[in-house]
Amino acid sequence: MENPAIISRTSNNHHQLWFAFLISFLLFSLFLRFHYSNNFQSPNTVITFSINNTDSCHGRYVFIQNIPSRFNQFLLQNCQFLTRGTDQPNMCPYMNNMGLGPEIKNENFSDILLTNTWYATNQFSLEVIFHNRMKSYECLTNDSALASAVFVPSYIGLDISRFLWVANLTVRDSSGFELVRWLVEKPEWKRMWGRDHFLISGRISWDFRRQFDDLAYWGSKFRFLPESMNMSMLAVEGSSWNNDYAIPYPTSFHPLFDNDVYQWQSKIRHQKRQFLFTFTGAPRPELEDSIRGKIIKQCRGSSSCKFIDCSSEKCDDPVNVMKVFENSVFSLQPSGDSYTRRSIFDSILAGCIPVFFHPGTAYSQYKWHFPKNRSEYSVYIPVKDVKEWNVDIRKVLLKIPENEVIAMREEVIKLIPKIVYADPRGKLDNFDDAFDIALKGILERIENVREEIRKGRDPSIGFADEDHYKYTFSDN
Ligand SMILES: *[C@@H]1O[C@H](CO)[C@@H](O)[C@H](O)[C@H]1NC(C)=O
Ligand SMILES: *[C@@H]1O[C@H](CO)[C@@H](O)[C@H](O)[C@H]1NC(C)=O
Ligand SMILES: *[C@@H]1O[C@H](CO)[C@@H](O)[C@H](O)[C@H]1NC(C)=O
Ligand SMILES: *[C@@H]1O[C@H](CO)[C@@H](O)[C@H](O)[C@H]1NC(C)=O
Ligand SMILES: *[C@@H]1O[C@H](CO)[C@@H](O)[C@H](O)[C@H]1NC(C)=O
Ligand SMILES: *[C@@H]1O[C@H](CO)[C@@H](O)[C@H](O)[C@H]1NC(C)=O
Repeated sequence: MENPAIISRTSNNHHQLWFAFLISFLLFSLFLRFHYSNNFQSPNTVITFSINNTDSCHGRYVFIQNIPSRFNQFLLQNCQFLTRGTDQPNMCPYMNNMGLGPEIKNENFSDILLTNTWYATNQFSLEVIFHNRMKSYECLTNDSALASAVFVPSYIGLDISRFLWVANLTVRDSSGFELVRWLVEKPEWKRMWGRDHFLISGRISWDFRRQFDDLAYWGSKFRFLPESMNMSMLAVEGSSWNNDYAIPYPTSFHPLFDNDVYQWQSKIRHQKRQFLFTFTGAPRPELEDSIRGKIIKQCRGSSSCKFIDCSSEKCDDPVNVMKVFENSVFSLQPSGDSYTRRSIFDSILAGCIPVFFHPGTAYSQYKWHFPKNRSEYSVYIPVKDVKEWNVDIRKVLLKIPENEVIAMREEVIKLIPKIVYADPRGKLDNFDDAFDIALKGILERIENVREEIRKGRDPSIGFADEDHYKYTFSDN
């Protein structure tokens, strides 16, 4: 309270002194009234003038649950057993640099990559990158009672990668079971039955959404465990269930400071683009009639299109990938093995406008990160019936007026900071990166649940429901 200051400043004037006393008295009674009407605490707390309304972390505190190391650190120490899929098994190099992966020495590629903030980042290390960003988050607390959300820093994707191809469901499901069994015993769980807990996955949500106990079905059933249903999960691709949220795949660009972003945006803005469009991906010979097959055929048949065949060229080399996207106006982004692709984000990073064929590839996924109005930053060519689909992509793209293309590209360039994960060792001041936006999104979601509980409603309503229409087509 300011009373002593007022008194000392005015002590040689009786009128002012009385006036000060009067003001102090009024202020104090106002304070009492305010305090009593807002608190249910005992009267003796009134003398602690400790209400701090200027706490910039208010409503943003996160408690990192101190889970056993077998759910995270152990996996890094045993990275030689982790796999990227069915190809090379060794994930160890990708765990370097806080999960960013091996640094790309760009003395030889300075025209393509510009600054020294590039890494050979593997998508599955998002769990490690996110955890490291979380560790340097400005509003962490060790007092879980103060926390708005509880982060569970388990590397569930790295973990399940050891068992996805194991033909034994008990083995596939076991570490998920262990994790929830550990979590529910903690006092933090009991507060909101886990509804303020969230997880991160560098794998798509479907890897944890096995619906039947049958070896013919893919994945673990982690997200269908009752405890897990009470938690929210951020993943590179969401599922049809409301408690899985999509956030961007990591790209290879990890700015340390604002200036890295500005420099990159400026380079990309002035790029000469030789090709109208490009497709990077591997053909799927077994899916002759797939949209991917049709796209590859069109691309191969047009001198305006650059096709990068990932079955023969190294598409996980950021230098190769960036070179193509920087040189193209549009990139084609059909669904791959799942709805989404990392390539969407590599394309945006290079200022290359994405062309989508299915709403589940981006529009119904990255709602926190992408503009609501998809026409601002992308082109949509729906494919409802693959067999009958015969749109000439080149013609569609050529019909877009030049000024619209430039406006779209500018939106794409503005998206860059929002879809990259900044280096945990630096700090962006003027930008919210993909991590910041994801965290805001999840805090808001949890606050809404808390509000429901406050109002006496059942927080489970709608929380983990399946949304059958999430990935269906709409024309508008
Ligand atoms: C209020 O909280 C902010 C942020 O935590 C802190 O910087 C500031 O010193 C606090 N002010 C007082 C009067 O306690
Ligand atoms: C850059 O190119 C030179 C000459 O081709 C080569 O000797 C050197 O190893 C390259 N550096 C990197 C980091 O790839
Ligand atoms: C939480 O506790 C740990 C270990 O005592 C300490 O290192 C860390 O700084 C604390 N974090 C916060 C946000 O107070
Ligand atoms: C699956 O693995 C568990 C645990 O190792 C084992 O007890 C069980 O016998 C296995 N089941 C089959 C069908 O092999
Ligand atoms: C999940 O949350 C509900 C309340 O919404 C609670 O009744 C239930 O016990 C919780 N489940 C677990 C496994 O904690
Ligand atoms: C969406 O964006 C496009 C392109 O900027 C614009 O023409 C259109 O009016 C916008 N639609 C809405 C509903 O704002």
